[in-house]
Amino acid sequence: MRQYILSIDQGTTSSRAILFDLQGNPRHSQQEEFPQHFPASGWVEHDPEDIWSSVQRTIARVLADGCEPSDQVLAAGITNQRETTLLWDRQTGEPVYRAIVWQDRRTAAYCEILKKQGAEPWVNDKTGLLIDPYFSATKIRWILDNVPGTRERAERGELAFGTIDSFLLWRLTGGREHRTDATNASRTLLFNIHSQTWDPELLELFGIPASLLPEVMDSADEFGQVTEGGALNGVSVLGIAGDQQAALFGQTCFNKGMAKSTYGTGCFLMLNTGDKALRSEHRLLTTVAYRVKGKPTYALEGSIFVAGAAIQWLRDGLRLIGDACETEPLAEGTPVDHGVYLVPAFTGLGAPYWDPNARGAIFGLTRDTGIREIVTAGLQSVCYQTKDLQKAMERDGIRPVTLRVDGGMVANSWVLQFLADVLGARVDRPSLVETTALGAAYLAGLQAGVYGSLEELAGLWRCDRSFEPEMSKGDRDRLYEGWTRAVEKL
Ligand code: G3P
Repeated sequence: MRQYILSIDQGTTSSRAILFDLQGNPRHSQQEEFPQHFPASGWVEHDPEDIWSSVQRTIARVLADGCEPSDQVLAAGITNQRETTLLWDRQTGEPVYRAIVWQDRRTAAYCEILKKQGAEPWVNDKTGLLIDPYFSATKIRWILDNVPGTRERAERGELAFGTIDSFLLWRLTGGREHRTDATNASRTLLFNIHSQTWDPELLELFGIPASLLPEVMDSADEFGQVTEGGALNGVSVLGIAGDQQAALFGQTCFNKGMAKSTYGTGCFLMLNTGDKALRSEHRLLTTVAYRVKGKPTYALEGSIFVAGAAIQWLRDGLRLIGDACETEPLAEGTPVDHGVYLVPAFTGLGAPYWDPNARGAIFGLTRDTGIREIVTAGLQSVCYQTKDLQKAMERDGIRPVTLRVDGGMVANSWVLQFLADVLGARVDRPSLVETTALGAAYLAGLQAGVYGSLEELAGLWRCDRSFEPEMSKGDRDRLYEGWTRAVEKL
């Protein structure tokens, strides 16, 4: 009897494969990090062969270690780092250049030119995004302009573009399927989120031939059968979603007003806005949350580039701590109103500021400032940035009714209590925090008929602990005012 769903989670720093049982419990898991390439200041690249081989190995190991023959695997799902851009040859499957990663800023000057030409408002109308190097379109254009021969080959229909999901599906199916899902398409700056189609005017603006593009499918759909996945051969890929959307799905935030916030290297807060693509007036992104049975559900998203990375910096850069787990007891022994503010704008500021030129700073230092205050300020910065996003959402006329959190940092209960305090809202931590991989497994399981409905999936969500706000409104406002003053000073 088939009793597992395999989820492939291809992230920015590692590839993972997790076998879930049909109740959504992770049974076996494998993970492998791969090298990051920084060929110039602000450039970030991945070798596509590292991505492919790490995915192959984690699949092989999770099936072998779990001693599960692949006929136990009912379906596979893929979730992935979003926006990261690859072009490859349709005949040979060879990439024409390394993958240009979402963090890469090489197209900043070109984005500025487009903005000066006045393109941003109409691009935002169609895509829900801003003109920023973060998204795929300007990265595709850079490859076509800078890698000799690629534009001509693209125009002859010889090349294929894909985000990482698309590339993995192509490889897993032996080059038979060139497809993506609507969530990944919605991060390219080429996809009209209202008509749910690639948009000719956007293709023209960025100078991108339509022949490059994959077919856009639902997030739960028949993507193709695996033939080049070793022990996974014969299994069908039935679910695909970008990692933040998959986390929203894994957190079962299926109703309008439900939100999830994932605290990894960065932080991505996503709020379900139902069947309406709500346009943000406060520089949040409008994006496809998931598309099931041809029906798109939309979300507002706030992307913060540095969350857990601030704690890494306290550990590896300043060496104030030896391990992230030391931060919780340090913060517990420190009053929250110590007056120090750390703004971790190491790579500029994301939503709602979108200032690529801002840089990090620490304010409010006095003679008695010590490690405790600086570490606590680092943790608090993650919560204040989440508050910035909550405020922007409120100004757009929608307040999250629930906030479910996940990602590495949520093991820290002090952070979640302070988060509830500054937000003035309850924060729920699920018992299963592997929500990204789970979301892809749920999508595949939905398509396979393991789960009959979204309501059935919602019934599987379990709360580990809820954090209720305990701080007075006066204290909350005072602390947050200090943060906004610090950000203004940048
Ligand atoms: O938009 C970028 C995001 O999808 C990357 O997520 O978890 O791979 O850093 P992660």
